[in-house]
Amino acid sequence: MNALAARRRHPAAIAVLLLLGLLVTGGAYSFLAPKDANAAAQSAAADDVANGKDLFIANCATCHGINGQGTKSGPSLVGVGAASVDFQVGTGRMPLPGPNVQAPDNKVKFDEQEISDLAAYVASLGPGPAVPEEKYTTVIKPGTPEANKAIAEGGEIFRVNCAMCHNFAGAGGALTRGKYAPPLDGVSPKHIYEAMVTGPQSMPVFNDSNLTPEAKQKVISYLSAQENQTNVGGLTLGNLGPVSEGLFAWIFGLGILIGCAVWLGKKAA
Ligand code: HEC
Ligand code: HEC
Repeated sequence: MNALAARRRHPAAIAVLLLLGLLVTGGAYSFLAPKDANAAAQSAAADDVANGKDLFIANCATCHGINGQGTKSGPSLVGVGAASVDFQVGTGRMPLPGPNVQAPDNKVKFDEQEISDLAAYVASLGPGPAVPEEKYTTVIKPGTPEANKAIAEGGEIFRVNCAMCHNFAGAGGALTRGKYAPPLDGVSPKHIYEAMVTGPQSMPVFNDSNLTPEAKQKVISYLSAQENQTNVGGLTLGNLGPVSEGLFAWIFGLGILIGCAVWLGKKAA
């Protein structure tokens, strides 16, 4: 028996071999594994949250609290989700310049990256609705049969769920206590979707069980079609419904009647 064979039979040989094998596989793995993709994404996400936190402390914490827990001047943002921040900051409603009955849309104060960082920070405070996937916020291509079907269905959904506040044509309307539902033309599809999932102020939340993402997309397609529609029925009078139409009838209708009466009176004299 030579020396090598003797060592191979040594009881420790198996343990040494195993250890060697593990070391080689482990080393090779850590050397070859696609470390960049995952780690980079994670550290980028952490950067976004950290950057968002700085922006938040500088611009929002006076009203919403250092940790977004809320103060007398602003509600808690724990659990409102990225969608709410993207909507509120993306439409310029936030940062609110001062106390008001309602935060109206306004000049947008931050760029896309800053908004997404703020949203990432607020989302890190507690789970809430995420910024919607793009496939649901794209208007279904107009002119196709699917689009016509979607627009018809979207209109139906809109009249049942939204028209009582926003008016049948999306022209907006007054609510109680000085609040109002704004007109919906010119609002981007993403913000329409986010308004539905977050329910800003007195607007109800339409979560996915009330209105599926597909249904929301139909509403968006309907609103977009409304916006691009050429009006065929004469003057729109702002599409405000009976009030402006009534006013129109009173002023012009009565005016004409009075004019006739005066003219007839003159003729008789
Ligand atoms: C002057 C005070 C003030 C400042 C500054 C302010 N907010 Fe607000 N914020 C409010 C108030 C009040 C409300 C609730 C009333 C409303 O919805 O209009 C609100 C509501 C919100 C909501 C909606 C919460 C929900 O329930 O969905 C979000 C999101 C939000 N703010 C984010 C921000 C962010 C992000 C900033 C900083 C960029 C900011 N706010 C700055 C006062 C403020
Ligand atoms: C109970 C009344 C009410 C109903 C019902 C309602 N909304 Fe609203 N909606 C509001 C109010 C109030 C606001 C303004 C919130 C604010 O300014 O923060 C609003 C805001 C919006 C905005 C943002 C507009 C902008 O200028 O940025 C969109 C988009 C919107 N609603 C869409 C809808 C859709 C779509 C539906 C139906 C699925 C709906 N709303 C149902 C009251 C309502």
